[in-house]
Amino acid sequence: MQKEKKLLNTLKGKRYEIPPVWIMRQAGRYLPQYRKIREKYDFMTMCKTPEIACQVTLQPVDEFNMDGAILFSDILTVPEAMGMKLEFVEGKGPVFENPLRTREDIEKLEIKDIEEKLSYVFEAVRLIRMSLFEDKTLIGFAGAPITLASYMVEGSASRNYVYLKSLIYNDTRSFNLLMDKLVNALIVYYRGQVEAGAEVLMIFDTFAGIFSPSDYEMYIYPYVKKLIDTLKKKLPETPLIYFPRGASGFYPLLSQLNVDGLGIDWFSRLTDADKRLGQNFVLQGNLDPVILFADYEIIERETKRVLEEGKKLSKGHIFNLGHGILPQSPVDSVKKMLEVIRAHNTD
Ligand code: CP3
Repeated sequence: MQKEKKLLNTLKGKRYEIPPVWIMRQAGRYLPQYRKIREKYDFMTMCKTPEIACQVTLQPVDEFNMDGAILFSDILTVPEAMGMKLEFVEGKGPVFENPLRTREDIEKLEIKDIEEKLSYVFEAVRLIRMSLFEDKTLIGFAGAPITLASYMVEGSASRNYVYLKSLIYNDTRSFNLLMDKLVNALIVYYRGQVEAGAEVLMIFDTFAGIFSPSDYEMYIYPYVKKLIDTLKKKLPETPLIYFPRGASGFYPLLSQLNVDGLGIDWFSRLTDADKRLGQNFVLQGNLDPVILFADYEIIERETKRVLEEGKKLSKGHIFNLGHGILPQSPVDSVKKMLEVIRAHNTD
């Protein structure tokens, strides 16, 4: 049997009886082999050492025979490369020491040397590409502009996004400057990943859903569209997946985006999402990550339900969770989910 890149081919329109599968955050703390390396190095050291980033990227691919390998890195390496001081605080997550609060802060962000500063990522992508089996698809990624802006302005994870939204409403011009700088940095960053060997690009928009549909349309969507249209022009061969978490309230607005795949969280049925997105995309998702804490019968029932909905999609399905896997997830539950996918009766 010839080995095919199922994930890449699905995004290019090919249909399979059993969909390709990978898991968001598949390299991480739920894996004992990850924790073993993590005992010795802090997270950013792992990201910045190409050999370690490569080794960790391959762990879930080897363990579970995933169809996709996602570069081991973080979305916040980009703001760091723009001059912000980033720290990962145990129990709190990412923290920026000096969040952006004034126009001057935003003007100071540097995008000139971004390619050089992020060259450790490109080196990791090169190494991963050389080490991967040919049927695996290498996924590069970055954060969407507003998801990055949220961390940069709030300084850490936030409950109500008061600083970010105040900036948007009260000083729209400075907000627009920040978004323009981010889009420009992201284009350089994504291009570097593709030149190094990334075959699919994903745009993580974890905070798309913190806005009303009208605010998203007015303030955020133009930058998402600009990023996507520019990437499509510069990298026409590379499929794009946009993952706007919490965005089901404005799916019709997204239906015209020039992407190949759309990531779906677990708040919609895949079949409903397909209709409301104009049947224009391969859909990726959407098992609730917490299902992995349930008994096997429930894992089986829900995995089969997602597979059945996936079969009915207009453009195809990539099996995934609806968001990142949680650090406490049992590895055996991941194995169970994959067993159900691979044994699924495809009549
Ligand atoms: O999917 C993958 O396996 C690739 C690697 C990846 C990581 N982060 C590794 C990581 C990806 C794609 C991300 C994206 C990311 N990072 C997002 C967008 C996607 C999403 O899940 O919403 C966001 C919002 C971040 C910011 C971030 N980085 C958070 C909130 C955290 C968790 C902090 C914590 O302590 O739980 C991180 C750290 C991080 N990124 C870890 C990993 C494996 C854990 C680091 C550790 O070992 O302590």
